[in-house]
This record gives sequence, structure tokens and C-alpha cells, in this order.
Amino acid sequence: MFTTSPARIMVLTCSTRPGSLGPAIADWFTVTVSPLAARLGVELRSLSLAELALPFLDEEEHPSSGIYRRPHTKRWSELVDAVDGFIVVTPEYNYGMPAPLKNALDYLGREWAWKPMGFISYGNTSAGTRSVQHTKEVATTLRLVPLGATVALRLQDAIVGGRVRRSPRHDAAAEGVLREAVRVSRALRPLREALREGSVEGPVPGSHTRVMTPDDAGEVTVLQRCCWVDEAVDNDSLALAPLRESVDEVACWLDRWTTTGLWRGGRLIAMVRVRREGRIGRIGRLAVVPDMRGAGIGRWLLRRAEGDLGAGCDRIELSTGAGSARNIGLYRSEGFVIDAEEDEVVHLGKALPGDLPTTPALGVG
Ligand SMILES: Cc1cc2nc3c(=O)[nH]c(=O)nc-3n(C[C@H](O)[C@H](O)[C@H](O)COP(=O)(O)O)c2cc1C
Repeated sequence: MFTTSPARIMVLTCSTRPGSLGPAIADWFTVTVSPLAARLGVELRSLSLAELALPFLDEEEHPSSGIYRRPHTKRWSELVDAVDGFIVVTPEYNYGMPAPLKNALDYLGREWAWKPMGFISYGNTSAGTRSVQHTKEVATTLRLVPLGATVALRLQDAIVGGRVRRSPRHDAAAEGVLREAVRVSRALRPLREALREGSVEGPVPGSHTRVMTPDDAGEVTVLQRCCWVDEAVDNDSLALAPLRESVDEVACWLDRWTTTGLWRGGRLIAMVRVRREGRIGRIGRLAVVPDMRGAGIGRWLLRRAEGDLGAGCDRIELSTGAGSARNIGLYRSEGFVIDAEEDEVVHLGKALPGDLPTTPALGVG
């Protein structure tokens, strides 16, 4: 339904015992919520700890270090890192969570942080709820956010012939868990973004930057349509690519350019893209949302773009509309000179004789 950034939710089957009821219960959950998942734009990723087959934690370093030496840890880290939340299908063993779940949680650190964790529990009289309470205590230490919505199956009522008995009440509860997981996952996204690998502090308080991927195309499309309205007015033209590009077209160029995004409070507030063509570096799509202009963000991103182009670049080139006086003023103040003007577009360039600048503190220069 949605073209970009689906919420990715892992459905994790936690018991590893041969003949376990876990796979049948996880199947029931996935089948039940799949239509809703499609409507919500959610990708469900099923994984079983039995198949993952993690040994007991065997890394030397503390997980908070992020230093992983074993291939199974690296794989588990990638799988957890790649999702936005979890729905754990867990039995109760001796009033607690099964050991493989505790072991799997202990393996990692940052990868769990600020992601929702919902529970489908099962057991005898307690319907696995003591296992859930136990898991919640551990999960919060890892900055996982446990959900209130839950499915708790009493085996004697809910399981017939090794399968979950269809029940409108349980189906509705399963959908409730998924809905809450998606809502909480979206709400926590700003916190996750700041922890994402490659994310670094930005130039304004509470902001961070990272290199964008095609998954960011939705937000980039909104940002450029917003920012290029001023360009359209200044240049008396609607024939500007950033105003007209579809989400798919944006995803396509995000794949070919190195684009830096700047977020604050979960909102994409600025961006710039760069590309090397031989010894020429091209900079483009420098944009800052209207309410954050005048704070030096554009200048900071422009200098960062020059730095990103790296050594071995003789010259940097960029273009803007002939009527975009503010842009031209910024570029000239950063040493660019006008090379040519054609069809209402100004082409500017800057020779780079020596070292490239490093990213400055905000407001410098
Ligand atoms: C080692 C073990 C401990 C158990 N402890 C509990 C328990 O504390 N509370 C409970 O309700 N059921 C308990 N049971 C029963 C399980 O809920 C039931 O066997 C369930 O099917 C186990 O999940 P599994 O089939 O995925 O292994 C226990 C079962 C096992 C194998």
C-alpha cells in the first residue's frame, strides 16, 4: 500500500523445543494479522530462535560495546537492527521466560533500543502471563518498550489438535497487538534515528545527520516540494524537477547520489546531495525547511558537502535559478563564482587548490 518506509515488525518464535507449540501459534498470529498488516503498510518478518540456533552467549566484549566477533552475533545484530519492533511468541517455563529468549536478548544492546515489544503468550492456568512479566523487566533494561496490548492463550481453552482454535476475541486481540506495535514504533522513531549506525550530531541542538537511503524517499519528496515552492515563486516557473519528481524518482536518485539528511525531533529539516564526476564534485538539492532558515544550517550543509566530496576533487560545481538571489548570495559568500547563465539557470563553480574544509561549528564563517 505504501511505497516507502514500511514499518518492519519481527514475529519472534521463542521456544526451541522439538514439538513446541510456538510455530503453530506464530503461524496463527501471522495469518490473522496479515490483512491488517497490509492495510497499515507493515512488513512482518518471521523468525524462530530454533532456526537461529544461537549458542549460549559467547562474545568476549560487553554487548554495549557493539564489538561482535562471532558470525552468529553479527547476523543476529543485523536481523534485529533491520526491524522497527517485535512481537514475541513465548511460552512460560517455570514462571518465567524460556532460556533461549533471555540468551537472545543478552546478545545485543543498541539494536533493541526504542523499539516496541508486544507479546503473544501461552501456558497453562496463567496463559504465559508470568513469562511476559519476567520478559518485560529484562526488556526495559535494554530500552525496549513493552506494549500493554497482549494476547494470552490458555492452552486448555485455546489449543485444539495442536492449532489455535479460531476465536473472534483472540483475533481482535492479535490485531490490537499489531496496531499498538505500529503506533508505538512510529512514535519512537525519532529516538531510534538518533542511535542509528552512522548517525552523528547535527549543527542545531537536538539534531542529527546521516546519509540517506531510498527508504527516505517519502520524506525527501515532501521536503523538496515544500522548499522549492519559494524557488518557483522567485523564478516564476513551475518547471522545476524537485517540485515534480515522484517518490519513485526520488528513490532512484537517492541510490545514485550521496545525500545527507538533517533531522530534528523526528522531522527532516534539511538535506544536500553530492556526487563525484571524475575530478569534478557536484553539489545539489541543498534545502532547509522555511521555519529553520537563517540559522546557518544551509551554510553548514554546504561546507559538509564540500568535505564529503573528499580529496582528489579539483573543482566543485552547482546550479540554481537565476532568480534565487538568496542562494546565489550564499554560494558567492562561500567562494563560488558564476561561470555561466543559460535558460534562467545560473551555474557556479569553485576551484579547490588546497585542502578541503572540514565541517565547521554552526555560525562560523
Ligand atoms: C520446562 C517447562 C516448564 C513449564 N513451566 C510452565 C509454567 O511455569 N507455567 C505454565 O503455565 N506452563 C508451564 N509449562 C507448560 C507449557 O506452558 C506448555 O508445555 C507449552 O506447550 C510449552 O511451550 P512450547 O510447546 O512452545 O515448548 C512448562 C513446560 C515446560 C516444557
